[in-house]
Amino acid sequence: MNDQNNVLEFKDVRKIYRMGDEEINALDGVNLNIKNGSFTSIMGPSGSGKSTLLHVAGILDMPTQGTLLLNGKDTSTLSGKEQAKFRRSEIGFVFQRFNLLPQLSTLENVLLPMIKPDPDKAKELLDKMGLNKKYKKLPNQLSGGEQQRVSIARALINNPSLILADEPTGELDSKNAEVIMSILQDLNKNEGVTIIIVTHNPLAAEFTDETIEMRDGNIIG
Ligand SMILES: Nc1ncnc2c1ncn2[C@@H]1O[C@H](COP(=O)(O)OP(=O)(O)OP(=O)(O)O)[C@@H](O)[C@H]1O
Ligand SMILES: [Mg+2]
Repeated sequence: MNDQNNVLEFKDVRKIYRMGDEEINALDGVNLNIKNGSFTSIMGPSGSGKSTLLHVAGILDMPTQGTLLLNGKDTSTLSGKEQAKFRRSEIGFVFQRFNLLPQLSTLENVLLPMIKPDPDKAKELLDKMGLNKKYKKLPNQLSGGEQQRVSIARALINNPSLILADEPTGELDSKNAEVIMSILQDLNKNEGVTIIIVTHNPLAAEFTDETIEMRDGNIIG
């Protein structure tokens, strides 16, 4: 039944937040397939459900109703342990505010998701991001663009097949935004990593192959 070419299949996925008497349909019956090796951007107004979609895609959050298949597997059948393993080994997350640990060095931040720390591999990734002179710096000693490159290196350390990035250029000037988007594009084109980014920036969306528009918890185009 599952199409092997799809990394993600959303089938009528709903996410309902209950706040007292109020119900918020953050996702309102989403049907969406994400193909292996694709590079997709998600755009739409604030509150339209973009982050919720990304959180569900990365099994940081479960649908209230509907089904999400990840590599053909129904995520609702995964135990907590299996979910954590999936997140660690298959998915890399990049966030708007970088989410680096402030007391750890660049190198230590990149090593953090590794079960068996491999500093050589972390250095190799940091070098690729142009950060070969910054191994020992703390996050607050780096520029925003540099911090985001560290967080991309961290997202890549376990060779994920899927990268989920929520407004990865949201805090960056246009030059650094372009650098980050070029890095993601290169990962997609040359290493076949499937990437989904949420963005408000049309210039960032231009780096992707397909743009999905969201409104009120659903995809409109
Ligand atoms: N934990 C939560 N509890 C209750 N409501 C929530 C929660 N998270 C999100 N929502 C609501 O769900 C809807 C979708 O939120 P979401 O964060 O996905 O929007 P978004 O498109 O990412 O917006 P933005 O562009 O501002 O980041 C909004 O109405 C929001 O208020
Ligand atoms: Mg958001």
